Amino acid sequence: MNLHERRERHERRSRRNLRRASALGLIAAGVMAVAGTATAVPASASGSAPSSAKASTLGAQAAQSGRYFGAAVAAGKLGDSTYSTILDREFNMVTPENEMKWDTTERSRGSFNFGPADQIVNRALSRGQRVRGHTLVWHSQLPGWVSSIGDANTLRSVMNNHITTQMAHYKGKVYAWDVVNEAFADGGSGQHRPSVFQNLLGDGFIEQAFRTARSADPAAKLCYNDYNIENWSDAKTQGVYRMVRDFTSRGVPIDCVGFQAHFGTGGPPASFQTTLANFAALGVDVQITELDIAQAPTTAYANTVKACMNVARCAGITVWGIRDTDSWRAGENPLLFNGSGNKKPAYNATLTALGGTPAARATASPASPASSASPAASLPSSFRWSSSGSLIAPKSDATHNIAGLKDPTVVYHNGKWHVFASVASSSGY
Ligand code: XIL
Repeated sequence: MNLHERRERHERRSRRNLRRASALGLIAAGVMAVAGTATAVPASASGSAPSSAKASTLGAQAAQSGRYFGAAVAAGKLGDSTYSTILDREFNMVTPENEMKWDTTERSRGSFNFGPADQIVNRALSRGQRVRGHTLVWHSQLPGWVSSIGDANTLRSVMNNHITTQMAHYKGKVYAWDVVNEAFADGGSGQHRPSVFQNLLGDGFIEQAFRTARSADPAAKLCYNDYNIENWSDAKTQGVYRMVRDFTSRGVPIDCVGFQAHFGTGGPPASFQTTLANFAALGVDVQITELDIAQAPTTAYANTVKACMNVARCAGITVWGIRDTDSWRAGENPLLFNGSGNKKPAYNATLTALGGTPAARATASPASPASSASPAASLPSSFRWSSSGSLIAPKSDATHNIAGLKDPTVVYHNGKWHVFASVASSSGY
């Protein structure tokens, strides 16, 4: 078969697939706003030489693949210039470390204090950094007046009011909220942990919280966040996975899963990338939200970053603090900067895994390939792809457990973007 025949056959097939998908009602015919276009260009064609495509800070380098690199920030440290200099140089996402927790924002019922979090949020936004909101419903750092509530109706209205008031205050300012934090139990049960929310409202409290959150700020991404859910075979991971699969199949609003990633010296479990990919396949973003690793071994950091880089819907990485001395695990020196604010070896490993060049190497002036190479070598010897994270993705529903997508087509018609595609379940198109 010649090339022309091949192409004709491919086009006939594509048309047939589209018709078939349409007849089966499988086309994702929802009208979607396409916020940008994924780019896939050789580095040399992107307007700059391949070497300059590599950035020298974590945030800028993560941005080259459409991701972010963030840090947990404490309001009380913003006046420390070593701290704030690193924050502004390296990071393009910020999570208030404690300032958005219930015991700070609603210490007594109905009386809200957003002062400390506002300090962090307004500072970040004015510098072009985005914000993760952490966290709305959590059993810890919860004031006594909430944990001592004794009836379901009171607690439900208190929880909804807390979510609504806090999200309304930050409407339009927060990229993603950890709506519910750490609701699953450790160990082999795969069930929710006991808490005042679980005990009075039952399993449905998580769904209730997400539904309330969606109404409060429809534009914010809504995440479930937890620790020890990085190893695919763990019962806790499986429990969270079942919940997210249930939510996406029933249309309960959820956009992302946060993996805290508080690791020991060994770093992530071998299955971490599989875990990220499996969650992403449910149609949610995945994010590494609180990364720190005991003693900060370079390999452990590199493996963590690579797991994210290898999963298209891994939107970004946040480290839980800036310098070792800022860490809640300060005794384990788990971060990327030492107490003096100097870059540790794990910093370079992280930047490299993000695709960047550690500063020391970047300063060496490269030989000019154009002048020194033979004409035959004038094509680049390697190509790099850069792309945003996914802009659209199919959603499974009760009757379609989507395993793959074929021949996506984007059509602009009458001022709207339409996206058509065939979807496949594991049993067929
Ligand atoms: C930690 C903070 O870093 C500490 O300053 C605070 O004393 C306790 O909480 N999981 C989470 C984070 O979701 O909110 C926790 O942060 C660390 C574990």
